[in-house]
Parts: sequence; C-alpha cells; structure tokens
Amino acid sequence: MSRGQNVHTPEEIVRIRHAAEVTASARDRIAGEVRPGMTTFDLDQIAGEIIRSTGGKSAFLGYCGYPGNICISVNEVVIHGIGRPDVVIAEGDVVSIDVGIEINGAIGDTARTVLAGQKDAPADVKRLLDGTKNALMEGIAAARAGKRVSDISRAVEQTARKNKLGIVRDFVGHGCGIKMHEPPEVPNYTGWGPGAVLVPGMVLCIEPMLTLGSGKVSIDRADKWTVRSFDGSLSAHEEHMILITDNEPEILTWQKMM
Ligand code: MF3
Ligand code: CO
Ligand code: CO
Repeated sequence: MSRGQNVHTPEEIVRIRHAAEVTASARDRIAGEVRPGMTTFDLDQIAGEIIRSTGGKSAFLGYCGYPGNICISVNEVVIHGIGRPDVVIAEGDVVSIDVGIEINGAIGDTARTVLAGQKDAPADVKRLLDGTKNALMEGIAAARAGKRVSDISRAVEQTARKNKLGIVRDFVGHGCGIKMHEPPEVPNYTGWGPGAVLVPGMVLCIEPMLTLGSGKVSIDRADKWTVRSFDGSLSAHEEHMILITDNEPEILTWQKMM
C-alpha cells in the first residue's frame, strides 16, 4: 500500500480542475454513444475522436503499452476492457466506460457504468448499478480533511456490503492529477491499516469495482489487460476524481451543465 500524501499546489489544482472537467464531459459524451449493435472497437474509435476534439490526448493510450483510447468493460469484464471488433454490445449489457485525458500537463480520470439500450434493468442489475454509484458517493462523503484514507475505504466497503455486492480487491483507487497514478492508494476495503491523513490539496480517484458475485477476478491470458470476474458475474465500476478541501470534497469530475 503506498501511503503518501500528495498535496498539489494551487497552480496545479487550476490545471487539474480543468483536465477533470474536460474528462467528465468526454466521459458523458462517450457514454451517450453506447448503442446495442455497435462493437466496443467502434466505441473506442468514437471515443478517440471525442478526446481529440477536446484538445487533449488519451492518458491511457500507450500507458504501460495499453492499446485503447479508453477502457470499455462489458458485463463480467470489470475493468481494462480493450475495444474489440468481435465484441458487439447487446441490449441490456452493463457497459463501463473509463476515460483519462491529459491536457496542459494535468490528468483527468473518471468512469461510469451504463446499461445499453432502452429497457429497464432487472432487479439484480439495478442493485449492482445503484449500489456501485452509492458506494462511490458514500466514499466521497467520507473524504474530509483530518480523516484518513481508510475512512473512505470503510464507507465504500460498508455500502457494498449493504447492497450484497462483491468487492474487487486486486485493484484500487489512487491519487491523481499530474501523473495518472499518484500516492496514496485508495482501496475499496479496510484491514490494511489507517492510511494517510487527508489534507486539503490532495486529489484522489475513488473507484469502487463491484460485482454480483465474489469479487475475485482473473486477468485475460492473451491480452494481459482485460480483468474479468472469476465467477463470470456482472460487474460495475464508478470513478470520480475529488479534491480534499477545508470543507466537503470538490467532485472534480462532476458533469457541469453546459
Ligand atoms: N483508468 C484506470 C484507473 O482508473 C487506469 C487505466 S490503465 C490503462 O486507474 F492502462 F488502461 F490506461
Ligand atoms: Co479510471
Ligand atoms: Co483511476
């Protein structure tokens, strides 16, 4: 567990706030393009155009060799799904869109999960989607100066438990802003210690990855990226970037009205 307190300067925060806003807007434009019948490769190409139109560039493309513009994780894929011409999105699929954009030397990183098509979700899918969003929002509410990283972790964990959702433990949230992954790590579970004290100027990505099953995952042996639930259960992923302040946290990737 990396426990650092990475406090950003006011000048950096101006640039990080802008990158996060741009990324949130791109995330929602991309999510609005999800349609049954399209492939995840099509969606990744559209995402590439949307990202280019912002004047920024994908923070994921080329990161540790990652080959996509964004991550598109369908159904039992939890995170790091690469757009593929052989994966066709179907009505009712659970589609997670994770977007990272670098602009003016700062980075935004945010994800949301949507249901493809127009039909209503079955009860268990609704529990997954709403439970994951609630876990994120409860984690954010716990992120106040003077508290610790583990207070965020506990809020996410308790909300996941309440909704009877499996917690993915092999991947965690993180500091963010100038590099995509900065200290500290922000796990979605407790039991690893108290963690760093939160202070104003820290920027954190809180990102619950939850499933309808156990939370155990495996990595695709061929592409070495795609993370799937081990039991094949549906999964969801929600991620916001927040700024720790003297009062309640500022959600940097909240979509502002335009
Ligand atoms: N966006 C992911 C995160 O939330 C990281 C993606 S890694 C990449 O931390 F290689 F796919 F870009
Ligand atoms: Co992300
Ligand atoms: Co992240």
